[in-house]
Amino acid sequence: MSANDDTRKSEIRRAFGRAASTYDNAASVQRAAVARLFAFTRALPPAMPVRYTLDAGCGTGQALPGLAVRFPHAHRIALDFSAAMLAHVRTPGVLPVCADIERLPFADAAIELYWSSLALQWCDPAAALAEAARVLRPGGMAWIATLGPRTLYELRTAFATVDEDSHVIDFFPISHWLAAAGDAGLIVAAHAREPLHDLAADLRELLGNIKAIGARSVGDGRRRRTLGRQGWQLLQSAYEAFRLPGGMLPATYDLILLALRKPA
Ligand SMILES: C[S@@+](CC[C@H](N)C(=O)[O-])C[C@H]1O[C@@H](n2cnc3c(N)ncnc32)[C@H](O)[C@@H]1O
Repeated sequence: MSANDDTRKSEIRRAFGRAASTYDNAASVQRAAVARLFAFTRALPPAMPVRYTLDAGCGTGQALPGLAVRFPHAHRIALDFSAAMLAHVRTPGVLPVCADIERLPFADAAIELYWSSLALQWCDPAAALAEAARVLRPGGMAWIATLGPRTLYELRTAFATVDEDSHVIDFFPISHWLAAAGDAGLIVAAHAREPLHDLAADLRELLGNIKAIGARSVGDGRRRRTLGRQGWQLLQSAYEAFRLPGGMLPATYDLILLALRKPA
């Protein structure tokens, strides 16, 4: 891993750490993604009894109760590289592990069900899926929800009228994820794109939600200057172009759903 990658990861970890106490109140899109991923994978179970489930990038653990219902006899591992996020995992009977999704501290073929919801967009797809493939038992499944390039396109478009800085991280298209899955030796059992929308009365509230879950823009080209009064007014009026007939402002999340199987 390069020094740049290290810095970037530390920034992401710090941003999520700062958001740990506000996350649950603001994470309606993340809750909806968890529900969609459970529904999407209903007919795609692992090929064997599940002894271990891993929630990779578990955050405060929103998926853990659902995983307990789905796999009542499995040991549940909750993994996140933010200790502050892990400290908010309240579900009993879960093993918390503070580690990097791209370097999992588990033996090969140790896990039957790999789950990850809205965490892998912060990772290198090749590294994350290679690790998922390594720790999965043959016949095991990876159920993944991540984000595609239309995520926050309203915000990206509105900011483009203000300056040339990068305000929204770049998201990989689904084709990139499918190719990375193949390269990692995983079979794509199913994939889908299902957009989700956060709705708010105004832009301040929409941006507040993004900040409260820790998903700030992080990366080399990110903005370092403050917006200023005039910039903020420009941004607000550009975002008005997206106001819905019902009166609310939307923020789109381009949800990518993947069900990947490790060949038996
Ligand atoms: C948007 S939150 C999603 C949390 C949870 N999966 C949910 O559905 O609510 C993303 C989480 O991924 C974690 N994360 C991001 N990159 C990671 C990495 N490389 N290794 C471990 N955790 C990571 C963050 O710390 C954060 O808690």
